[in-house]
Amino acid sequence: MLEQVELPMPVPAADEIRVRIRATTVSSADWRLRSLTFPPGFGPLGRLALGVRGPRRPILGSELSGEVEAVGRAVSRFKPGDAVFAFTGIGLGCHAEYRCIAERGPVAHKPQRLDWAQAAALGFGGATMLDFYRRGALRAGERVLVNGASGAVGTAAVQLARHLGAQVTAVCSAANLELVRAIGAHAAIDYAREDFARTGATWDLIVDTVGNAPYPRSRPALAEGGRLLLVLAGLTELLKAPWVGLAGRHKVIAGPAAERAEYIARLAELAAAGAFTPVIDRSYAFADLREAHRYVDSGRKRGNVVVRMDGV
Ligand SMILES: NC(=O)c1ccc[n+]([C@@H]2O[C@H](COP(=O)([O-])OP(=O)(O)OC[C@H]3O[C@@H](n4cnc5c(N)ncnc54)[C@H](OP(=O)(O)O)[C@@H]3O)[C@@H](O)[C@H]2O)c1
Repeated sequence: MLEQVELPMPVPAADEIRVRIRATTVSSADWRLRSLTFPPGFGPLGRLALGVRGPRRPILGSELSGEVEAVGRAVSRFKPGDAVFAFTGIGLGCHAEYRCIAERGPVAHKPQRLDWAQAAALGFGGATMLDFYRRGALRAGERVLVNGASGAVGTAAVQLARHLGAQVTAVCSAANLELVRAIGAHAAIDYAREDFARTGATWDLIVDTVGNAPYPRSRPALAEGGRLLLVLAGLTELLKAPWVGLAGRHKVIAGPAAERAEYIARLAELAAAGAFTPVIDRSYAFADLREAHRYVDSGRKRGNVVVRMDGV
């Protein structure tokens, strides 16, 4: 259940900044945490880790953009009035008017070419894919297929692979074919008409953000030395992943993306250079946060759903 409550103003520690939030997002992670819906096999583990009856961290939201409003006495990177964005990840706490963040944490100056909504949506998909492409050792000139290319992670996967010099094929519904081509996919497959795994074509990297392309299905579509990046994997796929690598032909990479402050700095550079612009589907006022969650619950959002604080 979601409710709006008044809390004391957070006070920044010596190494923290306090951000007055201008925009945040409702992500698939917020949906998972609110509803305690976990990938297959993770139910009991997820509940133990994140909360048995409801989320242990009661303020959801893992992304924000806003203005620095106060700084701790040891802060040197930021000053009041600076425009910033941040990805707090599992630390959450962004569905609020104010949040404190360590200045050396996952926060960076907002790229000027992005508005508040776009800047708020840089981290979730962007940091996830920087981590998976690092682990998958994506190289320029390789062929990448993104299954579920139209969501928050998928739209970041397409743009970042394209920027890194890959040939990108996007898999999505017919309604989103135009979108994925517009953000850089060289080719697009409507999953209702064609199964990418049975076309006879192969890819060096396959990114699965949907959870329906585990190794047994994707194997025929992986080139020699190919890597399967399971952004969404059940417990069985996660446990089996290291064994695939032992056979030598392919590698399966699964599990949570690492949350590193350096990814946020990199995303700021990429966005400033025009290499990555988050896709915004709908934008809601803070007062309509429940509506935003209802829409995200549908599982059919295109890119990101943004929540604006008053006055933005
Ligand atoms: N491992 C990690 O650290 C990590 C990090 C972030 C996210 N995740 C996980 O990654 C998953 C994706 O996250 P997200 O934020 O990108 O989700 P999202 O934005 O909700 O993605 C929704 C997209 O999924 C597509 N979709 C739904 N059913 C499909 C199907 N049967 N085949 C192909 N596409 C389908 C929809 O596209 P169409 O309408 O075009 O079908 C929609 O655009 C989530 O389950 C999340 O938990 C994992």
